[in-house]
Amino acid sequence: MPATPSGARGAIITGWGTALPDEIVTNVDLESKMDTDDAWIRDRTGIAQRHVGGTTAGLSTEAGRAAIEMSGVDPAEIDALVLATTTPDRMVPASASTVQNMLGLSCGAFDVNAACSGWVYALVTAHGLIAMGSEKVLVIGTDTLDRITDYTDRNTGILFGNGSGAALLEAVDGAGQMLGWDLDSLGEAESALFAEIGGFLQMEGREVFRRAVRLMADSATKALTSAGVSSDELALVVPHQANIRIISASLERLEIPMEKAAIVLDRTGNTSSASVPLALADALDAGRVGDGDLVLFVGFGAGMSAASAVVRWGADRGPALERPGRAGT
Ligand code: ACO
Repeated sequence: MPATPSGARGAIITGWGTALPDEIVTNVDLESKMDTDDAWIRDRTGIAQRHVGGTTAGLSTEAGRAAIEMSGVDPAEIDALVLATTTPDRMVPASASTVQNMLGLSCGAFDVNAACSGWVYALVTAHGLIAMGSEKVLVIGTDTLDRITDYTDRNTGILFGNGSGAALLEAVDGAGQMLGWDLDSLGEAESALFAEIGGFLQMEGREVFRRAVRLMADSATKALTSAGVSSDELALVVPHQANIRIISASLERLEIPMEKAAIVLDRTGNTSSASVPLALADALDAGRVGDGDLVLFVGFGAGMSAASAVVRWGADRGPALERPGRAGT
């Protein structure tokens, strides 16, 4: 189990942003397309609506631009763009390259596909780049799942939507925010959730549910252990937004009260790679996180993948970032 090495150069999040397409599909809208009803969907998933439309590059650009503006960073200083997505706009090139061009950045740009765990994978990857010398890294999570969802299939069509969330990471002289992390994959379970190229998502819902609860709790426990943090010390948990019952069952295993969870799935549905940064931004904008607070990110998804990270918000920036008037943590 890897732990953040002492002495590794750290990073902090100094800006964040989100994007959701304008078009909303409510549960009631779905009633005319499949044999389902609003009450069942709310009760079994916690979802009331989802957003559809847009492109992965377009939503990523909007969220990324907002994060850059909040940070006050000169875009010319950004030296890497990591885009977590499981729905790139094209097979080739990576959507990150399109976003880099749309944002006018000159830096390395690449996609990470780890399904719904993708943004946490990208966040850990970005910290690795910073430990190796990068100064400023833009980490975006975006999915346009409406392109791989059959909205006449009640098994999957009630769950998924589109969105994007981004965070701007800056290197600091101090230890930075990330205290511990975990990346996991359970390849033998890949048949529980997949989409062939050009096809729709296929899912064994109960199997995914069962495995997800265990994977989330196990991954979170590994990250907490590597951070030396106990679950009762956490101020906030930002879980992947798939199903409110999966979140509550995994938090129960971790002995964390539901009041500590950041939740947006009622408004967004499952947005895969975007779900953790969307929920994080919602909690930050609501003032739920203060300096020194411990925050746990925990994702799971197709693969089946899982990823967790423990951060201390507003951690040691070091003297290099003491700039007046800056927005952020
Ligand atoms: N509307 C109304 N009734 C339904 C629907 C629906 N959309 N779907 C199923 N039902 C019915 C079933 O027919 C069944 O009826 P019966 O009891 O008469 O046979 C009953 O409801 C219960 O069906 P289950 O399949 O057991 O429903 P469950 O409680 O498991 O909920 C769900 C289904 C919501 C899909 C759940 O299993 C789930 O959330 N699984 C995890 C899915 C997930 O998280 N996927 C994303 C992973 S992340 C990624 O990488 C993309």
